[in-house]
Amino acid sequence: MKFVRNPQARKRKSTRINELFGKEESQNVIQFHRSFPQYAPTPLVSLKQLAQYLGVKAIYVKDESQRFGLGSFKVLGGAYAIGRCLAQKLGQPLEQVPFDKLQSSSVRETLGTLTFATATDGNHGRGVAWTAKQLGHKSVVYMPKGSSLRRLQHIQEVGADVSITDWNYDDSVRHAAKEAATHGWEVIQDTSWEGYVDTPTHIMQGYTTMANEALEQLVSEEGSQPTHVFVQAGVGAFAGAVIAYLNAAMDHSPTSVVIEPHEANCLFRTCEAGDGKLHRVEGEMNTIMAGLACGEPNPLGWEILSEFADMFVSLPDSVAARGMRVLGNPLLGDAPVISGESGAVTAGFLSIVMNDQRWLDLRNQLSLNADSIVLLFNTEGDTDPEMYRQVVWNCECD
Ligand SMILES: Cc1ncc(COP(=O)(O)O)c(C=O)c1O
Repeated sequence: MKFVRNPQARKRKSTRINELFGKEESQNVIQFHRSFPQYAPTPLVSLKQLAQYLGVKAIYVKDESQRFGLGSFKVLGGAYAIGRCLAQKLGQPLEQVPFDKLQSSSVRETLGTLTFATATDGNHGRGVAWTAKQLGHKSVVYMPKGSSLRRLQHIQEVGADVSITDWNYDDSVRHAAKEAATHGWEVIQDTSWEGYVDTPTHIMQGYTTMANEALEQLVSEEGSQPTHVFVQAGVGAFAGAVIAYLNAAMDHSPTSVVIEPHEANCLFRTCEAGDGKLHRVEGEMNTIMAGLACGEPNPLGWEILSEFADMFVSLPDSVAARGMRVLGNPLLGDAPVISGESGAVTAGFLSIVMNDQRWLDLRNQLSLNADSIVLLFNTEGDTDPEMYRQVVWNCECD
């Protein structure tokens, strides 16, 4: 494992970020999500025995594997962005077009059938395709070379025209945008680039629902706020949204750690270089953490993380595999959490840092001790069950 502290972390309240990701905006977002019949807050699991065993006060896992029956948090972003896109086309504020109105025959007659296009490692595309289908529209989804066939099937099952490209994630994103421009489709992509900012911002705003729920569950059910939050990152949209929300909504900002696989550690590299430029990883990003295999940082995500994240960590697949086992095979008294390769890496990280004396210095740098209340997000379940079994049973990774 490698880690780099963020020398710029200032944690001052930023008006722009507060306006985009603070409590007020997040209320509008969650109100839209609540209009979906499938909406229910996901569980916040308290791992009391694990906390005691590792020597921290509490560990909470927000279990996004339960979200809308789709296995990951990603649908929160795709659904909200599609909602905003349709509301704009209708010339109405989103508050006036909840789910049942967007599904109504009058709206469908006005808008006709639209096609939403995106690139994905699996979870985001599944959320976009599912939302499109729910609202009577179409979707076209591109997956990077080497993508899981099971994850492709999931996307097919919700009606998308889905294919696996010959490129990595970032080039598949460019391909999706090009095809969309040619065919007049709407791009719903979870990262931004010059001239394409609004929809990725809406996607990030969509993610605030899970941080909003988690904080409310922590305060109302447990009477506490987190001292630490560990977030996994691909392009950094999820990490940025969660950290921005918590910083805006909490009195004292939690210590935040952003975690990536070695093979796709673009945010780690960007922080390490410290030259004000975004640093990318190119080529095939060969990691079991498919959801985190992204080589180019999301600029808005980086804007937030460069200001608020305390530390960036780059680590091997074995840490994710350990996290899957720790969560799925808990200590007596704790509930099991089924967590996929990208979902479990923060639990793996916490268990290693607290268990292994070699990481004592890191533990101290993060002030992880008996007073720490650690919040983790299980961002996906066993979205490829065969892969889950391979990793958990056979530990087939470095
Ligand atoms: C399960 C899972 N966790 C985390 C992430 C990371 O999100 P982001 O790319 O916004 O950093 C992804 C992205 O696809 C994912 O699928």
